[in-house]
Amino acid sequence: MSHYRISPSILSADFARLGEEVGNVIAAGADLIHFDVMDNHYVPNLTFGPMICSALKPYAGVPIDVHLMVEPVDDLIQSFARAGAGIITFHPEASKHVDRSLSLIRDLGCQAGLVLNPATSTNVFENVLDRLDMVLLMSVNPGFGGQSFIPQTLVKIRQVRAVLDEYEGQTGRRIALEVDGGIKVENIAEIAAAGADTFVAGSAIFSCPDYKVVIDQMREELARVGR
Ligand code: DX5
Ligand code: ZN
Repeated sequence: MSHYRISPSILSADFARLGEEVGNVIAAGADLIHFDVMDNHYVPNLTFGPMICSALKPYAGVPIDVHLMVEPVDDLIQSFARAGAGIITFHPEASKHVDRSLSLIRDLGCQAGLVLNPATSTNVFENVLDRLDMVLLMSVNPGFGGQSFIPQTLVKIRQVRAVLDEYEGQTGRRIALEVDGGIKVENIAEIAAAGADTFVAGSAIFSCPDYKVVIDQMREELARVGR
């Protein structure tokens, strides 16, 4: 079985029919539901909070992958854990105490991850590997769906993959490597070949009338990757 996971971002779904959209994209083969939380402070856009997450939980038969683009993070970590999040990731510059925020996520029973913006150096997570279940690399600047994949991200994916592989070799524990922004059928294979295993896709999936067609095409592309 493939270890690749596709995490559709409902940022590009029809907000007037969110429950139905979540159900439909899971029926089409989604492994996770990517939930983009923006606060109009850390990023210049405003989306949805824990009440919407909680309302969608009954429609989500797969883990909800909450991406916090908010500052500060700790209060919302608690609210999203209560709202049914499965994974919670945040941007390290938005927390005063990264190690503490990561521990908080795990203590609340969720998987924990750090998100690196295109300009953020990869050394920010190397001292907290034991606290991580996921590293999320942004391949666009956070704030909006529908942007183009930044090619330099491929170099960074390879760097992070090497660190995570070395860590897995030492500990036997695998940390997921997720990539977010501008992923489509046309580029998912090269992103996987660089070392990503979890793929966020918003506009590529929700702009197509049949979500299963896009997800199936993505899986066909992934099946051709040697890694
Ligand atoms: C951007 C969000 C992404 C976004 C991805 O800040 O974190 O999850 O929705 O959208 P696409 O796939 O359209 O680039
Ligand atoms: Zn996201």
